[in-house]
Amino acid sequence: MAVFDFNSGKLRDFVPVELRSLPLDVRLECGVFNKKSASADEKDDYSLLCEDQTITQTLLDRLGRTLFPETKVHIDRQYVIGSLFAHGHFLGFSQQEVLSIRNGESFWIDTSSRAEISPAAPVAVAAPKPEPEPAEKPEPKAALKTAKTYSEIVKEYEDTKVIVDQLIKDVAKEGKVDKEQGTAIAEDIQQQINSADTTLIFQTMNRVRNEDEYLLTHSLNVAFLNGLIGKLMKLSPTKQFELVEVGMLHDVGKLKIDPAILNKPGKLTKEEFDEIKKHPALSLEVLLKSGIRNQSVLEGVVQHHEKVNGTGYPKNLDAHEICEFARITAISDIYDAMVAKRVYKEACSPFVILNEFGKGGYSELDIKYVNIFIECMIEELKGKEVIMSDGREATVLLVRPRQLLYPIVEIEGKAITTDEELYCVNIKVS
Ligand SMILES: [Fe+2]
Repeated sequence: MAVFDFNSGKLRDFVPVELRSLPLDVRLECGVFNKKSASADEKDDYSLLCEDQTITQTLLDRLGRTLFPETKVHIDRQYVIGSLFAHGHFLGFSQQEVLSIRNGESFWIDTSSRAEISPAAPVAVAAPKPEPEPAEKPEPKAALKTAKTYSEIVKEYEDTKVIVDQLIKDVAKEGKVDKEQGTAIAEDIQQQINSADTTLIFQTMNRVRNEDEYLLTHSLNVAFLNGLIGKLMKLSPTKQFELVEVGMLHDVGKLKIDPAILNKPGKLTKEEFDEIKKHPALSLEVLLKSGIRNQSVLEGVVQHHEKVNGTGYPKNLDAHEICEFARITAISDIYDAMVAKRVYKEACSPFVILNEFGKGGYSELDIKYVNIFIECMIEELKGKEVIMSDGREATVLLVRPRQLLYPIVEIEGKAITTDEELYCVNIKVS
């Protein structure tokens, strides 16, 4: 296959086959990136890269098939993007063909566009090789990770909801939780999270919910969300378990607040809002009364409304004073509120939620954790089967960091960039 060499301005042979089996040490050069004249988007893309730095990438073709896994790419001084050389062989792709060069992120090479370059005068640099067999399309992650069906996941979720409902009723009656029961529920949730496909659990929480059960559903969802974020961040099982506990119990203090204020439909007065603001401390009281002494859990609960911009409550903590669990719980809290708001009016796909986070505007959240969450979800969504707005089924090839709402999908063998006309309605469930 002939490709255009931006260095020499000539066509050259593309030699992917033998390179696939080699440990690649790739030099990336050509196409000077001028830091001064770069657009904001470019600066954003390149901000993670330093001169003379080697980064690891996975190169995909347009259909999302891996061409070169874990490729080491060296960024030369002054040069950022352009042609790839490996062991003296030219790989070659143009700036237009490269979607992203963020460190560690997969990017794809639009091999289809090469076919349009007429090989009128190819310059061979390697002996002609037979065309490579197309790589196997990656199995959908769901199939690799678990055999649990969506309806089984929903059933487990609903069963857990019944037990959490009892736990909340106990708090309302006795002002404390049964510590052993709380532990058992958190372990059960953790087990569900780790034995099922992540995106299907997100899907489970994105269903229509009963408005009368706000505290119950919210507590359960934040428990799941905290655990899922812990899983995506590859936190230790202990931390993941503690995060689930924080999520499950963070709002139980609301049971001690006048329901008339809690459920007031209109705007709250300052006095009423001051009452609401007491709930993190009231949750802490419940935990202490229940004999829970785990400092990380207690801190996560009492700080879950503190904000990294210093405007949170109850203590207006500065960013550095807020614990990791509270920062993560704040993300789960907003995620669940976002879903609850949207779920009544439109399909709540993970792309919609991710896009909300990606747009920013949450100065109260720790951007580092938000970005980790987005990056992990992008990775999770790759290879997922989705239902499109025209009813067809598709497979997610790539979720682009700056176009979270509109992933690139494969429909009937063709790679298609989704948009407001043809978009992903939701993940396909069995
Ligand atoms: Fe809260």
